[in-house]
Amino acid sequence: MRHLLEQDPAIARAISQELERQRGKIELIASENFVSGAVLEAMGTVLTNKYAEGYPGKRYYGGCEYVDIAEELARKRVKQLFGAEHANVQPHSGAQANMAVYFAAAQRGDAILGMNLSHGGHLTHGSPVNSSGQLYNFIPYGVNEQTYRIDFDEVRKLALKHKPRILVAGASAYPRTIDFEPFAQIAEEAGALFLVDMAHIAGIVAAGLHPSPVPHAHFVTATTHKTLRGPRGGVILCRKPWAQAIDKAVFPSTQGGPLMHIIAAKAVAFHEAALPEFNTYMESVLGNAQALAEALLAEGLNLVTGGTDNHLVLVDLRNIGLTGNEAQQLLDDIGITVNKNAIPFDTASPLVTSGIRLGTPAVTTRGMGPDEMKAIAGIVAHALKHPHRYAVQEQLRGKVSELTSRFPLYQP
Ligand SMILES: Cc1ncc(COP(=O)(O)O)c(C=O)c1O
Repeated sequence: MRHLLEQDPAIARAISQELERQRGKIELIASENFVSGAVLEAMGTVLTNKYAEGYPGKRYYGGCEYVDIAEELARKRVKQLFGAEHANVQPHSGAQANMAVYFAAAQRGDAILGMNLSHGGHLTHGSPVNSSGQLYNFIPYGVNEQTYRIDFDEVRKLALKHKPRILVAGASAYPRTIDFEPFAQIAEEAGALFLVDMAHIAGIVAAGLHPSPVPHAHFVTATTHKTLRGPRGGVILCRKPWAQAIDKAVFPSTQGGPLMHIIAAKAVAFHEAALPEFNTYMESVLGNAQALAEALLAEGLNLVTGGTDNHLVLVDLRNIGLTGNEAQQLLDDIGITVNKNAIPFDTASPLVTSGIRLGTPAVTTRGMGPDEMKAIAGIVAHALKHPHRYAVQEQLRGKVSELTSRFPLYQP
């Protein structure tokens, strides 16, 4: 930070303040994590200087011999990690990865089936405010109104009725294991291509603790920065016959020069995710999610589907009379970061919502375990049940500080 402090103290200060925020708060946003020092180092390198449009060995610029090494390693490692036939590591984000698959496999106006955003899907699965919903004819499927689990009868009915070009599985707020086999069978029956967006669960899949979509899907997209604990970015895996179309859809269709410093950091993260320590980490993420869910239930909070199989829980706040927005603000005030989230069949607006989503990847990276999850559940429940008690909030703030100081983050 020496140069930054001298040349741009305002930005240096914002970065220091963000570091202190990460250190001093309890991070429960399910899509966030803390990368390793090695990943951070790779990102902050001279690789950012290099233009490398194209792919290793076939670039539009000279001087790519070393960035080729980094990209080749990233491709090889991620293919090995997930047992994939082909990988493209250039998407700048998960949204870009999904868009590239749509570009490669569908024509404008084609029908595509994707999970309803308000039932746990993602914006890029056909929301009208996203280009996916504007360019393609997305048809949403959802969860069953009683079980809140994916309604495969509905998926099948819609697939056979609309004969979509692509069936999309994957979610950003679904607390249960996704069974890819019935999805693949429905796609086959309907003559559709099958895309799995495993952004949230990529780390769990890498550790072998969630069924892999790779054997079932034509395309698998992921973000690299959530459970996978790498730099911010996206990746696409696909079967060999689709390799060329996918590569063309990323560059030159939807992106220009790749972010080579980020691709190097992705390679580091893929290496880390293949180590036995990563499996241990991911077992703890899931164990912590179980502990958090049980403790929240014991505090009288309602969870969508009654619990979790993965790294996140979705709290239905309707029985305690708070909106998701109010709960997010209350928790933020005492040092716990979460996001408001729609629950299935929510009647509140997406800016208000009736739920909050909590996840364990980041707190687990910090070293916290089931005892801390119990303590956090107690703090969360107490804060939500006493929204107007200043003295209670002051006491809870103290408990948060005590917890975060016991689990230091990014120590020099
Ligand atoms: C399922 C899913 N797909 C795609 C994305 C988009 O990723 P990004 O924010 O990198 O564009 C997200 C991010 O939250 C996600 O949850």
